[in-house]
Amino acid sequence: MRHLLDIMDFSVVELQELIDCAMDIIAQPKKYAETCHGKKLATLFFEPSTRTRLSFEAAMYELGGNVLGFSDGSNSSAAKGESVSDTIEVVSCYADIIAMRHPKEGAPLVATRRTGVPIINAGDGGHCHPTQTLADLLTIHRELGRLDHLTIGLCGDLKFGRTVHSLIAAMSRYEGVRFVLISPEELRVPGYVINEIMEPAGVPYVEVRSLEEAMPELDVLYMTRIQRERFTNQEEYMRLKDSYVLTPEKMKTAKQEMRVLHPLPRVNEISVAVDDDPRAAYFRQALNGKYMRMALILKLLEVTV
Ligand code: NCD
Repeated sequence: MRHLLDIMDFSVVELQELIDCAMDIIAQPKKYAETCHGKKLATLFFEPSTRTRLSFEAAMYELGGNVLGFSDGSNSSAAKGESVSDTIEVVSCYADIIAMRHPKEGAPLVATRRTGVPIINAGDGGHCHPTQTLADLLTIHRELGRLDHLTIGLCGDLKFGRTVHSLIAAMSRYEGVRFVLISPEELRVPGYVINEIMEPAGVPYVEVRSLEEAMPELDVLYMTRIQRERFTNQEEYMRLKDSYVLTPEKMKTAKQEMRVLHPLPRVNEISVAVDDDPRAAYFRQALNGKYMRMALILKLLEVTV
């Protein structure tokens, strides 16, 4: 039985298979409409979510399956003090596959020890978020036609932003990829991402402070929200929250084929005036997340179409 805890659980070949499957779902949705008939997905969200939970649920419905779960840990027995392991052991009696989001790093790994069904990490604390990366990969593939030979700028909260950590891990395996890490000093990418992911892969990167200076060389600009809920010091959050704001003015120096991605939700880091720019791909990215989650559910449930 396979789980998805970390994007590195899948090889580059498997990621391409998921992309190919998602592209086929987009082309022929009817073919997939009953592929998960009689199957149940549990969505266990101990932390807030809009896109991830709803796109998982929409994905399962579009495959003909059903969904159960909770969107707030305080409505579940976690509020009575139940452990993650016990909750998972029970839910795996009711569902065929589980997508879970938890504020504690490593909670989905703990879940795999007591489950009889595949576990999907839908975000664990400030650690990683592999299914967002699936959405990101399909978006880059559809928008730019390739996943290699790209200069990718990641901007904002590179410390607590779990989507950033998973995207760096995934993209470090493609040839000719280079990262421009744009953040305030306090929100630099964690040491383990540099030492255990980028350095061993030999992927070139620079750490800079200025978005404006980086802009002209980027093929992808991945904007992120400053992760307020992960700060222990709210004054520091207030000081850093508007470190970067993407505006139409700043977009003027970007390449014509550059694409702006953002996992969403956006707070203030992209002006709404950028939304009309054809290079703004973040809402298309949210739609792509549903297709990749459909492909993922099929893979983990070993459904052949
Ligand atoms: C992200 C997350 O939860 O990490 N949201 C999402 O799943 N699309 C990004 C964020 O919350 O900033």
